[in-house]
Amino acid sequence: MNNEFQNATIDGQKVTVYQLGKSSIEWGNGAGTLSDGMDTNKDNQPTRKLTDSAESIIIYFSRSGSTELLASKVERETNADILEVIVKDPYPSNYSKTLSRANFERENQDYPELYMQLPNLDQYKTIYLGYQIWAMTLSHPMTSFLNTYGNQLSNKRIAPFMSEGGYGQGDSVQVIKEILKQQGSTNNTFVPALIVDGNKVDRAGKQVNDWIKYI
Ligand SMILES: Cc1cc2nc3c(=O)[nH]c(=O)nc-3n(C[C@H](O)[C@H](O)[C@H](O)COP(=O)(O)O)c2cc1C
Repeated sequence: MNNEFQNATIDGQKVTVYQLGKSSIEWGNGAGTLSDGMDTNKDNQPTRKLTDSAESIIIYFSRSGSTELLASKVERETNADILEVIVKDPYPSNYSKTLSRANFERENQDYPELYMQLPNLDQYKTIYLGYQIWAMTLSHPMTSFLNTYGNQLSNKRIAPFMSEGGYGQGDSVQVIKEILKQQGSTNNTFVPALIVDGNKVDRAGKQVNDWIKYI
């Protein structure tokens, strides 16, 4: 891991990233990426840092750690609160099994059940939404999150950030906007998304800093 990210923590817990240190060929645009089968880290408690004073909150999901590392960096730069999106049944460590499950979910629009509670969001002006690209669109845990809680995001500024396999953001931001609208969320503003390749998140320090300064 790049120096700046060595021993990265989030909410005091270690961030483990499965896509780092691989050549482009080994990485294969993220295909084959393992996880520990607990959506990031079986040794950690779900991230949940909530204060009375923060004006922003980072809400993120990460199966294999790349988006979590970005979230940790955003938190360091902004001191925002943090909330991890947790699904009831974690995605398998095996990539092919995860892909099969994700394909089934998408084809059937049967998105995962969540296992988390949303705090009151009144104090926050900005919501940093951290997710990954699956099949060129929004990953399913974030889809479930917005389907479930989108109605509580009215009047918020939405700052999307994502990690992906090198094929870009797909239609993910458009999908976020559509779900928020469907759920009755009004008066949202959007800032341009931050997009980082999943195997380069440890080299994204400047990109994250520039993005935060810009927005
Ligand atoms: C089921 C699945 C589908 C994926 N589809 C895409 C895709 O269409 N385009 C892309 O660029 N990356 C794709 N990826 C790669 C992930 O977006 C990438 O590995 C990301 O960094 C994972 O983030 P995470 O470590 O936070 O889970 C896919 C990964 C999975 C598991």
